[in-house]
Parts: sequence; C-alpha cells; structure tokens
Amino acid sequence: MAHLRPKVLVTEPIPEKCLTYLNEHADLHIGKIGEFQREDNLVRTISDYDALLCMLSTPVTKEVLESAQNLKIVANFAVGYNNIDVEAAKSLGIKVANTPDVLTEACGDFAMGLLMAVTRKFNAAEQYLREGNFTGWEPLGFLGMELRGKTLGIAGMGRIGQAFAHRARAFGMNIAYYNRTKVDLEVEQALNATYISSIEELAENSDVLSLNCPLTDETHHLVNDRIFNLMPQHSILINISRGAVVDETALANALHMGTIAGAGIDVFENEPEVHSKLLTAPNCVLLPHIASATYETREQIGMLASKAIVSVLKGEADSNIPNLI
Ligand code: GLV
Repeated sequence: MAHLRPKVLVTEPIPEKCLTYLNEHADLHIGKIGEFQREDNLVRTISDYDALLCMLSTPVTKEVLESAQNLKIVANFAVGYNNIDVEAAKSLGIKVANTPDVLTEACGDFAMGLLMAVTRKFNAAEQYLREGNFTGWEPLGFLGMELRGKTLGIAGMGRIGQAFAHRARAFGMNIAYYNRTKVDLEVEQALNATYISSIEELAENSDVLSLNCPLTDETHHLVNDRIFNLMPQHSILINISRGAVVDETALANALHMGTIAGAGIDVFENEPEVHSKLLTAPNCVLLPHIASATYETREQIGMLASKAIVSVLKGEADSNIPNLI
C-alpha cells in the first residue's frame, strides 16, 4: 500500500536548506509573502495539513486551530510566539514549537548596533551627507551620547537581554535589569548587573531602557505615558522585543515633546503598519523587524522549526524535541 506523505504548510519562503530537508519527509506548500498574514486564508487552507511552519506574522488563532483536522504541530519561525494561541493548541492536542537560542547572538549584535545608530545619529547624519549638506568637519555636528559609564536598563533579562548586556559591558556601560525573577548569581556577577524590582525604578535610573521581554498580558504596554515621564530627558528607548510592549502613541508623543531623547525601534504594534506619528518623530531609528536577519541565524531558525516538525510527524517522543513549548 502506498504510504501517503504528510503535508506541511510553510506560510512564507524560508531558506532553501530548510525546504530541502522538509521535502525529504513531507509534501510542502509554500505560501506567498503576506498570504497567510490573513486569518481567513489560513482558516480556509489549514484543514489539509499535518504541520504548519509559520511566521511571527501568522495569526494562529483558536479559530485557525479549530479548522485544522489533521494538524499535529505548529512550529513558529521565531522565538516569540505571541501570535499563537498556545492554550487552544494544547487543548486540541496540537504541539507548538519555537526557536530559542539560535537567534540570541544576532539579536545581541543588532541591539548594540541599533543603540549606536540612535546615540550617534547614523541615519540623520547619512541623510545630511546624501542631501549634499556636508561642507566640512564641524566641531558641533551630530553630537550624541557616549555610552561609557552610562546605565543600560534591561527589561527582560533572558537570553537576548543577557547577550545585549555582555556587549554593552564591552562598551563600558553599567547594567541594571528588571525581570520577573532575579537571574542566577553567576550571570549577575559576570555582567556586574544590578537587579531592580520594578519597571518604574528601572526607567528612572537608566540612560538607555531596552525591552527584551516576551509580549504577554503582563508586558502589554509595559512602557506607557507614566514610564516615559519617569525616564530621564536624555534617555533612549530600544525595543527589539514586540511592538505592543510599548504604547506607541505614548512613545510618539514622548519623542515629539522631548520627554525622552531618542528611540531605536525594530518592532511595531500592528506590523507592518507603523504609527504615523512615529514616522515623523525626531531622533528615532525605525527598522522593519530585522534583529535576527543574518543568513546564518535565519537558516538555523528554519532548521530548528523544520526538525521539530519532522520529529513530531515521525511520532518521536516530546523529550527528543527540545524546542516544544
Ligand atoms: C523574532 O522576532 C523572533 O521572535 O524570533
């Protein structure tokens, strides 16, 4: 009897190596960019598939999961999984995987670069040059905040928060952090990091406030008007976590009114939409969610997600699949 190959829906094109690997084990359908950012498209399509490899922009809602007759696993091509109704998946017996660890270093590098871009005004200075305004070296041109001796306050001291902190230490910054729980003493000691028990106190005492926490009910709009008013006027916000951790209207107002000095933002509340007042805000570097975008990391993310899918389709024990949620 012919053995039917399982069917995997990959919602957007991913690195070739991952598709080749998946294709050895299953029949694939690869969605077009943006196609499965729409819940109705997913609901209509998902019932045919045994596994879903989806993006952080794919809304894997209860309705989507309930429309899936054969689905055994949802593997997110991301470490954050706020786009998936994990409770609904669990109650339907559908496994969920994410991609921890593999993007930590790329995101740590990126956070440091974003901070430099904001403090040293890379984008505004480059625009000035391209527009033909560079007429000679200026002693007072494009001055920015030096990082040595400043305090980086990290909200969410997980893998990525720690990776950023290690880099910031090399730039001579002091590290303070706020987290649900204190991190291990060895981690604190290696970073010379000070634990602060509230986001308010962290905001008041940081020259740079960086958001590195997952988006949950507790962290939704964690940084809002009240927090911006506590931040020092010279301070900078960095967000590479999820857009909705920040109240974007409050951020735009804080930048326009000079309540804070600048921001580096890689993630937005309603991606791909960007708040119109952010687009015109001063001292603000806005990027299209690219913190993990290196060739190496994106391939590793894809392989980790693909391997979880193949393991589940083969009926392997959960204990063999380290990235199940
Ligand atoms: C990227 O934002 C991720 O969560 O992996």
